[in-house]
Order: sequence, then C-alpha cells, then structure tokens
Amino acid sequence: GAHVLIDTYGRVATDLRVSLTDRCNLRCTYCMPEEGLQWLAKPDLLTDDEIVRLIDIAVTSLGIEEVRFTGGEPLLRPGLAGIVERVAALEPRPQMSLTTNGIGLKRTAAALKAAGLDRVNVSLDTLRPEVFKTLTRRDRHKDVIEGLYAARDAGLTPVKVNSVLMPGLNDDEAPELLAWAVEHDYELRFIEQMPLDAQHGWKRDGMITAGDILTSLRTRFELTAEGEEKRGSAPAERWLVDGGPHVVGVIASVTRPFCAACDRTRLTADGQVRTCLFAQEETDLRAALRSGAPDEEIARIWRLAMWGKKAGAGLDDPTFVQPDRPMSAIGG
Ligand code: GTP
Ligand code: 5AD
Ligand code: SF4
Repeated sequence: GAHVLIDTYGRVATDLRVSLTDRCNLRCTYCMPEEGLQWLAKPDLLTDDEIVRLIDIAVTSLGIEEVRFTGGEPLLRPGLAGIVERVAALEPRPQMSLTTNGIGLKRTAAALKAAGLDRVNVSLDTLRPEVFKTLTRRDRHKDVIEGLYAARDAGLTPVKVNSVLMPGLNDDEAPELLAWAVEHDYELRFIEQMPLDAQHGWKRDGMITAGDILTSLRTRFELTAEGEEKRGSAPAERWLVDGGPHVVGVIASVTRPFCAACDRTRLTADGQVRTCLFAQEETDLRAALRSGAPDEEIARIWRLAMWGKKAGAGLDDPTFVQPDRPMSAIGG
C-alpha cells in the first residue's frame, strides 16, 4: 500500500529503532574511545514531545508495528518512562522494547514495565568482572548482572543477552556464557563485531566470526539449526541447544548479512532518519518538525527517505566506507 515504508527492493520497514541519547556510562572498546565522544548538544536532541510525535506518525501513517529504544545508553534519558507511557497509549499500540547495557535496570525495570515496555535486550560480553573492566573500561559488572535479574523479575521477557566476542579478551568465553544463559533462562545472542567503532579500529581479519563462535560452542553443546521459516526478518540465526528448549543466536552481520530481509528504519537522537546502520545519507526530520510541518508532510519525507534505502550494508564491497556516525550515535 501507499502508506508504508517500502523501498525499491520491495522491503517494508515495520520495525523502528529510536536512539534516545548518544551518551553512555560504559566505554566498550569496540564502540568508544576511553575519553568518550563529542556528545550531541541538548538543543540538537529531539525533545520527549518530538519523539512521541514522530513515533505517533510512524505507527498511524507508516505501518510501524515495533519500536525499540536504543542509545548510547537509553536508560540515561531522564524522560524514558514518560516516553514509554505515552507510546503505549498510541493507537495502534506498537510492541516496545529496549536495548541497554543493563546498568540502571535494577532501579528502573519495574517502572518501565508498568509504563508499558514489553521486553529488553541487555549487553553482556563476559562473566568475569576483571575482563568486563578491561572491555568496558568501567567496573560495573555487578550492576549489569543485577540489572539482568531485575529485568526478568519485572517481566520484561523474553530477556535477550547480547555478547560481542573480542580476540584475546573474551573469545574463549562463548560456552561459559551459554551455560550461564541457559541456567538463568536468558536468550543469548553472539554478535559479530561490526565496523561502527568511533576509533575506526575494526579489522575484518581480527574479528571473531559466526563460524568461530559455532565451533567454540560445539565443544560443549549440541546445536541444531532452528530453520529459516522461524527466522523471518530477525537478525539472529538460532540454534536449539542440546535439543532445546533453549536457543542460542548468532547475529552475523559481517559474514552472513541479512540485508535482504531487513525490516528496519532508524531515528537518531537528533532526529535524522537512517535507512541502515551503514547508510551514508541521513534525512532530517527534526528540521521539518521544527519548521511546523504537518504530520502528512513528515510522513512523506520519511517514506521518500526509505525509498532510497540501499540493497545492503556493502561490507564486502571494496569501496565500503564506514559511516561517520559511530554505533553509539546510531543506536545499534
Ligand atoms: P530483537 O531480535 O527484536 O530482540 O532485537 P534486535 O536483535 O534487532 O536488537 P538489538 O538492539 O539487541 O540488536 C542486536 C544486534 O543486532 C546489534 O549489534 C545491532 O546492531 C544488530 N542489528 C540490529 N539491527 C540491525 C540491522 O538492521 N542490520 C545489522 N547489520 N545489524 C543489526
Ligand atoms: N559491533 C557489533 N556490536 C556492537 N555493539 C556495539 N558496538 C558494536 C560493534 N562495533 C553491540 C552492543 C549491544 C548492541 C546494540 O550492539 O554490545 O549489545
Ligand atoms: Fe555504551 Fe553500548 Fe557503546 Fe558499550 S556498545 S560503550 S554499552 S553505547
């Protein structure tokens, strides 16, 4: 139909990822430098009202069915619970999830659930506090574990755990992480490291691949592929662990890209539409909002932006150039 976000390859975006801030309280080495980044200035950020208005347009005029809040670290956004509550009141009400590093969830999980949040994905790369400190440059391992427990206790389920394996740091930990996730009933997904770090230090040769991860897991578990029919547009391929019911996922953006099934559109914290994590272009919705454009005009600009979505990330293209905006300012 005319009122959806469709591109020239026939893909329809039904999943909106909204970055609420580019700030973070960790400094993961695959994401940010030790000293942090030049953060967006407050006046450049969308206000809570502007965010809710854009999500309203997305669900009423553009066919968006699922909204995921991301960052930076979205729990650092003071108005988060209020935004969630207002989005939960929209018609039709979208599914609502959050991707977080888990710090602060202990304090906020119950209130977010009450406000209408459906579920969370939490990043946890290691079970070893010392390795956590090296990887994230902050001594907050305990806060993340407590956040994970709080998420489940609050019913923000299914809780998924995201792990990035880094050579020489935590690449020997895959089986241990999976045993822990199975024991505690979290759905673990390993993510291949992508060239989205602010330092531009990513190297194809250095990264741990989906193949490496599966080999490592199979030293301890029997994995059977879940099958494509259940995957849909999910970025993770999943395997049953020792016959099930637990599953483990691998998000192989680099070695097994899933761009052909992509159903995403993205909004940065400063109100730019991104058609892809790796897009080189952005479309400014904030300017339209602030110049008083009506909903139909904003919807039209958004549709036009998505019509220009490229076929794929193009990581294997010899001409590939990493986007200027790092992961923390796109929202993963
Ligand atoms: P659900 O499967 O709905 O729970 O969420 P998700 O896996 O899409 O969200 P999450 O924020 O947990 O993302 C996990 C990883 O998948 C992150 O590293 C994302 O950057 C990556 N990812 C999410 N969307 C895309 C995408 O469109 N393209 C690529 N290449 N990677 C993506
Ligand atoms: N490559 C892959 N995953 C990354 N994440 C952050 N930076 C990268 C990167 N360069 C992960 C986070 C979080 C998810 C949203 O993306 O650890 O789990
Ligand atoms: Fe923060 Fe996420 Fe980047 Fe780690 S990956 S520094 S948790 S934004």
